[in-house]
Amino acid sequence: MTSFPDGFWWGCATSSHQVEGGTDNDWTQWERRPGAIADGTRSGEAAQWWSGAAEPDLDQAASWGHNATRLSVEWSRLEPQPGRYDEAAFERYAAILRHAGDRGLARLLTLNHFTLPRWVSDQGSWLWPGIVPAIARFAGACAQRLGGQVERWATLNEPSLVALLGYAEKLWPPGHRDVRTFGPALAAMLRAHVAMSRAIKERRPDASVGLVLNMPCFDPSRPHPIDRGLAWLQDHAVSGVVLRALDAGRLWPPVGLGNRIDGLPGSFDWLGLNYYGRYAIRFSPRAYAMAFGAHVQPDSIRCGETDWGQPFPAGLTRGLRRLSGFGVPLLVTENGIQTENDAVRTHYLQSHVQAVRDALAQGVDVRGYFHWSLVDNFEWAEGWRPRFGLLALDVETGRRTPRASAEVYAQICRSNGREQP
Ligand code: FCB
Repeated sequence: MTSFPDGFWWGCATSSHQVEGGTDNDWTQWERRPGAIADGTRSGEAAQWWSGAAEPDLDQAASWGHNATRLSVEWSRLEPQPGRYDEAAFERYAAILRHAGDRGLARLLTLNHFTLPRWVSDQGSWLWPGIVPAIARFAGACAQRLGGQVERWATLNEPSLVALLGYAEKLWPPGHRDVRTFGPALAAMLRAHVAMSRAIKERRPDASVGLVLNMPCFDPSRPHPIDRGLAWLQDHAVSGVVLRALDAGRLWPPVGLGNRIDGLPGSFDWLGLNYYGRYAIRFSPRAYAMAFGAHVQPDSIRCGETDWGQPFPAGLTRGLRRLSGFGVPLLVTENGIQTENDAVRTHYLQSHVQAVRDALAQGVDVRGYFHWSLVDNFEWAEGWRPRFGLLALDVETGRRTPRASAEVYAQICRSNGREQP
């Protein structure tokens, strides 16, 4: 049986807005709109990481044999006004990162996990022409102040999803619902990645900088040319357009309008894959919002408007193989399931770790696996209803209760994947 390489990273992923609470950004503003959050909840104090819960949660992760953690910083906190940095906030992040390092956790830090400061969203979010230099300056400030506490940097999380849900659709801020803004928003994010990567490397020439992509599986539900074409189109809008841009330096029509992204090929030292599941696509005249490709897969993981797809571990192996063509190390930067049924979570976790093993057996250079997530957290437009954590959270009291799946994962982590209970 193929083993995981020595030094393989095992951990969990979180994002600042979802666990920290107490922020003031485009999402907290969005949350106030009636109907914006499916269950009517607010992020509030979230999982209280900012006020002290980060450290005990990371202690818990270390006690389970994790040797890495993926987390993010909140731009609105660190640069509350353009060019004015909050040094106390930087110090709080430095303390969290140091704490993780002291507990033996390697740190993968994402600089932008969806949220934008209000002074950016007030000017047009990713359509504001000033955003690329602004976020690059922010990345440089992070590299300068936090660089000693970070093993790998991710610039952005899932750019195509932001462009789809916030620009082509109106499920996320800024809620444009204008498909013509998809290409320009995505182009701005990819340019931002290039500029951020350069800004980090100016301060830290040895930094390892990557980008995190969301790549579900899109399969035709029948071997029919229309379903095949629609599956291709949906895959192109989420994954294909970004992959071709990483390769060729420009966005490809029909969704990308041919925008050039100078410097994009070769701008990443590693790539991150976020993977949840598979969609089966079938033509339906009623599915106009999905370009007429309805999602008809059985046993899908749904909550409100969000459909994470059908659990399909082979899709993770497939996604890793697809990314391996870029010739850089890969990390599974997110993989998990929202469920109150922990036996289902345990099976999902085990089968997806096996899928990573399968990719390794096929020669793919995978360096780590991060389960989403360490603790139940605020799930964007779905609010508190979806439960993804290895730690169950009582949102009222902040009390944590480990789920049984956490112990199963601990055995995997402690044995570097040899013991798969
Ligand atoms: C991903 C996001 C992450 C979390 C999971 C469930 O798309 O990156 O923040 O919401 O989905």
